Amino acid sequence: MTIKAVVFDAYGTLYDIQSVAAVTEREFAGRGELITQLWRIKQLEYTWLRSLMGTYEDFEVVTRDSLAYTLDCLGLEGSGGAFERIFDKYLHLDLYPEASAALASLRGTKLAILSNGSPSMLGALTQNTGLDRVLDDVISVDDARVFKPSSRAYALAETRLGVAPRDALFVSSNPWDVAGAKAFGFNVAWIERVPREAMARELRHGGALPPQTLFKALRTQMDVLGFEPDHRIASLAALVDIVARG
Ligand code: LAC
Repeated sequence: MTIKAVVFDAYGTLYDIQSVAAVTEREFAGRGELITQLWRIKQLEYTWLRSLMGTYEDFEVVTRDSLAYTLDCLGLEGSGGAFERIFDKYLHLDLYPEASAALASLRGTKLAILSNGSPSMLGALTQNTGLDRVLDDVISVDDARVFKPSSRAYALAETRLGVAPRDALFVSSNPWDVAGAKAFGFNVAWIERVPREAMARELRHGGALPPQTLFKALRTQMDVLGFEPDHRIASLAALVDIVARG
């Protein structure tokens, strides 16, 4: 089999969503980590709720609403520009250190993002980080008006790239996204950002769990949904060998 396209999840896979912590902590000293984790937990929850409720609003609305929920829940005021400065980091997220070189090493294969992000968020993010120059396409679920892991969202990759799911490799760090993509019919590589042993070590400490540890426990370990990835990788740099092997 030849892999004709590599399709990447954006947030958490190419882009480090934890990099918002620098801004949340600058705006609300001592609360940055809690804001960062609650915000992402709520953001994803809202995508799933809106998909189930049939009340789609794009990812910018969801990202803003979940930030509003988070600040309100913690009794914090987002006025005076803090809200916008925090949101803006979502358009300037840090790339994972190996991302650009890994994409460059895959030149010759079609490369795309398929993300929950809205077209304007993804456009800004890929331009701000230079990925617009190496990607063949940036696909937003907005075209299907439903979020991943709906099969209608994954199906956009075939429509846009003209590559069947069995000839494409989908790459994500998000276990729920890995399960969704596998259920849809993609070949799937799971980038294990928090290895099992590291997670176990972190949880073994006892005492109160820091918010980031709770987030990791919720969102970084493989979900029990009946689908396993085809490949488990520790770095995006491993993709070149997977694609070469076919
Ligand atoms: C993405 C988020 C949800 O679709 O990880 O990029």
